[in-house]
Amino acid sequence: MAENITVYPVIDSTNREAKERAIHDAVHGTVIIADSQTQGRGRYNRSFFSPPGSGLYMSFILFPDEIGFQNPTVITAYAAVRVCEAIEDACNIKPSIKWVNDIFLEGKKIGGILAEGITDSESKSIGRIILGIGINISAKSEDFPEEIRPRASSLYPDGNALISRNLLAAGIINRILMPDRPKEPEIFEQYRKRLCMLGSHITVVQGKEQFTAKALDIDEKGRLLVEMRSGEIRALLSGEVN
Ligand code: BTN
Repeated sequence: MAENITVYPVIDSTNREAKERAIHDAVHGTVIIADSQTQGRGRYNRSFFSPPGSGLYMSFILFPDEIGFQNPTVITAYAAVRVCEAIEDACNIKPSIKWVNDIFLEGKKIGGILAEGITDSESKSIGRIILGIGINISAKSEDFPEEIRPRASSLYPDGNALISRNLLAAGIINRILMPDRPKEPEIFEQYRKRLCMLGSHITVVQGKEQFTAKALDIDEKGRLLVEMRSGEIRALLSGEVN
């Protein structure tokens, strides 16, 4: 159950707001939602396009003990699967996942997940998790900034959303906070089933390194197993694939 839901017409970033609340006094399951964000962020601190009226931007404050895991990789996989299920249920549209954290539909990004851990200064373990989810619902191609237009889309790219954002938000909240959560191996199995690139040749970017490889599988720790041209198998924990 979500204990506390706040909806803002506009905010800089729901993840930033969630972080601030988490270090003060917030309960597990707190949800921050915004109609638009002026500084929505994704991985590598990239900006996440968050205009008013056409997307869902939300962040959860999660306590590791309550949610049952504290590793952001696990949380990301868990959230990506739950978001896909919620979309399928509410919209009858079947999105897939692009490793690590992108929600994809017909070869384009329609959403993303940003899980961030807040470390407890005394125990040095992760004391809180901020889980941010952004979904483009009805933004049209021409609405997106030019530089991301070729790769970005939304659930209803003609601009006519067939569902309400509230319904989708409720579906996501219920799924993320559901009491019966799968354990790690099952999460990665569900995640693997929705990955869109297994068996394909991909370009991997890791910092300054870039290489092509064949995507083989997801292992029990959520790492992407790839086969290099040399035949060597590498297990990737982070990076970006195209
Ligand atoms: C990514 O594409 O790398 C992840 C995007 C995550 C965007 C969401 S929108 C709600 C929350 N607030 C943010 O600033 N980011 C996340």
